[in-house]
Order: sequence, then C-alpha cells, then structure tokens
Amino acid sequence: MQIRKARTADIPAIARLVNSRAEVGDVLPRSLDELYECVRDFFVASDGGAVLGCSSLKVMGEDLAEVRSLVVAPEAQGTGLGRGLVEACVEEAGQLGIRRVFALTAKPVFFERLGFERVARSAFPQKIWKDCFSCRFFESCPEVAVQRMAKDNDGETAEYFQESNATRTE
Ligand SMILES: CC(C)(COP(=O)(O)OP(=O)(O)OC[C@H]1O[C@@H](n2cnc3c(N)ncnc32)[C@H](O)[C@@H]1OP(=O)(O)O)[C@@H](O)C(=O)NCCC(=O)NCCS
Repeated sequence: MQIRKARTADIPAIARLVNSRAEVGDVLPRSLDELYECVRDFFVASDGGAVLGCSSLKVMGEDLAEVRSLVVAPEAQGTGLGRGLVEACVEEAGQLGIRRVFALTAKPVFFERLGFERVARSAFPQKIWKDCFSCRFFESCPEVAVQRMAKDNDGETAEYFQESNATRTE
C-alpha cells in the first residue's frame, strides 16, 4: 500500500470515494471538474491498482491550510490509511512553511488520535465564508474544528514516509 500524490488518472476514483461519503454529510461533494483543477492538492492511498483512500490539503492563507476530502474506502478502514493520509497533508504543509493545519469534522476523536486539538470554529473565518455558508448542512452542522501545528520542514521534501502500515513516496 502506498500513499502518494494524486495523478489525473486517479480523479474518477477520488470522485467516487468522496461523493459516496458526501451523500451522508461526512465531506463536501466535489465535481469532476473541480477535482481535476485541484488534483495537486490530493494524496491517494493506492495498492497499485485501486484507490482506497484520499485526502487533500487546501492552502487557505500564508500560515493556514485545511485537510479536506478525507475518505478511506469501507473495506480498508482501520488499517492506518486515514492516519497516513492526514500525516501526508501535515507533512506537506510543513514543506510549504505552513504551521496551522485544521479540519472541520464530525469525527473529532479520529483527529485527536492524530494529535489535533479542538478549537473554536470562529478561529477560521475564511472557511466559514468560503464553504460553510453555502453548505446545505449549514443550519444544523455537527462539525467541530480541530487544529494541529505542522513542523516547519523549511522546504525539505521527504523521499520516504511511513506511518502505521502505509508507505508514501513522492
Ligand atoms: C475517518 C476515516 C478517514 C478514518 O480512516 P481509517 O483509515 O479507518 O483510520 P485509521 O485506521 O488510520 O485510524 C487511526 C486512528 O484513529 C482511530 N479512529 C479511526 N476512525 C475513528 C473514528 N471514526 N472515531 C474515532 N477514532 C477513530 C483508530 O482507532 C486509530 O487509533 P489508534 O492509532 O490510536 O489505534 C474513515 O473512517 C472514513 O473515511 N470515514 C468516512 C469519511 C469521513 O468521515 N471522513 C472524515 C471527514 S473530516
């Protein structure tokens, strides 16, 4: 199993993963056009053929980025892929010189396992106005904000990344 940057050929599988969970409100729905445009934001967990998970790091400002579109296929959950996909995002944030990484999530305990802390949603006005206001779940949103400080990697690019049983290569 490998965690790597996404390629355009991965986008149809990413769309299927993300939109299957968007139906139940776990993540925001994403169109194919939108996904192709932000393919460089994405990581995938791949066993060589199938894409079994995805995550993306959306840069929101000089020192702020969001982990979004985090989904692991049901048959692959509980094997460390979710952790690996989030760690890949946090590591990339550090490479970009971004320390504050956040997510809006209905699964805060998962993120707390990965070292994130709960913070007030009002800490992220950019996010609220860009996406939340137009979301159909805005009025009854169950999500909480979580944040972790990334290690500043000073532009260094890791050649190898291992977390749990997931392996990432550039
Ligand atoms: C949430 C999700 C990404 C977790 O992925 P995963 O691959 O099953 O998680 P991992 O196996 O890497 O688990 C890492 C740790 O988190 C814990 N964990 C996993 N899912 C959890 C959950 N729903 N609630 C609390 N803890 C959870 C694991 O027990 C593990 O803890 P440990 O390392 O202390 O033993 C996955 O369940 C998923 O895709 N859910 C549907 C979409 C979704 O809700 N995405 C999040 C949107 S913000």
